Amino acid sequence: MSAVSTAIVSILKHTPMKVKQQHYKTVWYDSKLNEVNLIDQNLLPFDFGIKTTQHYTETVEAIKIMTVRGAGAIGATAGFAMAQAACEAPLEDYVNYLNQAKLTIEQSRPTARNLFYAVDKVFLAALQSPQNAVEVALEIAEEDELSCKAIGQYGVSLLNQGSRILTHCNAGWLAFVDFGSALSPVYEAARRGMKPFVYADETRPRLQGARLTAWELNNEGIDLLIIPDNAAAYLMWQKKIDIVIVGADRIARNGDVANKIGTLEKAICAKHFNVPFYVAAPFSTIDFQSESGSDFIIEERNPNEVSHVSGLDASGNLQEVQITSPGSQAFNPAFDITAAELVTGIITEKGIIKPLDLISFDNSPTL
Ligand code: MRU
Repeated sequence: MSAVSTAIVSILKHTPMKVKQQHYKTVWYDSKLNEVNLIDQNLLPFDFGIKTTQHYTETVEAIKIMTVRGAGAIGATAGFAMAQAACEAPLEDYVNYLNQAKLTIEQSRPTARNLFYAVDKVFLAALQSPQNAVEVALEIAEEDELSCKAIGQYGVSLLNQGSRILTHCNAGWLAFVDFGSALSPVYEAARRGMKPFVYADETRPRLQGARLTAWELNNEGIDLLIIPDNAAAYLMWQKKIDIVIVGADRIARNGDVANKIGTLEKAICAKHFNVPFYVAAPFSTIDFQSESGSDFIIEERNPNEVSHVSGLDASGNLQEVQITSPGSQAFNPAFDITAAELVTGIITEKGIIKPLDLISFDNSPTL
């Protein structure tokens, strides 16, 4: 679909994502217990477990250490953390407590726009009452899910029978509450019997493609090949990639896109080889306050993620090993910025949009 539809697909039949036939969301909130439940993504793909947090500071820690990660999932979790803070705040110090919590949550991961989107909204609701905060946090999670489902419905129009799709990092359902962004059209194509084929990368530094995207696709029975991060250009040269679809952590007014480090290289290669390069993201990822990607704060993570890798040894035990020359320094930017001119289109819950047309959607209230 090339025309922009401004109507969010409203009636959506849910076909939620499953783990061994059981439906899971990436994150969910138990409002009776004031607990946040998270699929522990640091355990994947070798183990599956749920982490439960009872206090907002524990939830923040889970965001920091990437128990939960991915723009939408971070956003929903941050909203729940803000709701937890509202529920646990002492009445005599309520507003101070909320302000402190807001700051603490915002400092956990600075690039993902969805985190700020959720925290701002839930904070304003919390100023009314804790109950309001909980309701708004739940609404944000629900909105994330519905938006991702709609992204799948719009994005599938870009795929053909047997399309070969390159995706970078993980923008599947684990990166959102459900369905995912970049992978949502792929799941929709699979449901329609179109037999999509996925090349998955981000094999360094955190191996999110090799670990998480591969795990998700295997669960859904979708064919894939994990490729090294530096193999994409060669595959494009071989004409083995029909389309690139990636996610986004933050998108500026001018259509510049921050996404997992390595995305920019895919976009440059795609332009060179004339392969369409799409970004899939809900509107909650768009930062209308930033004129361009130059305004973004790019998170730098621990160099340890570059110098070490973890995986299963021959006995099936999880081990972390050093792979770099001892004593050498490493640099670990988590994201890069892809200029709008390299992006063919942005697949959103409102339709597929040309990056430069984003500005016409800017009706965001200034918070
Ligand atoms: O550091 P992460 O894993 O939280 O990074 C986010 C990502 O997974 C990717 O950049 C993704 O493509 C965008 S999030 C939907």
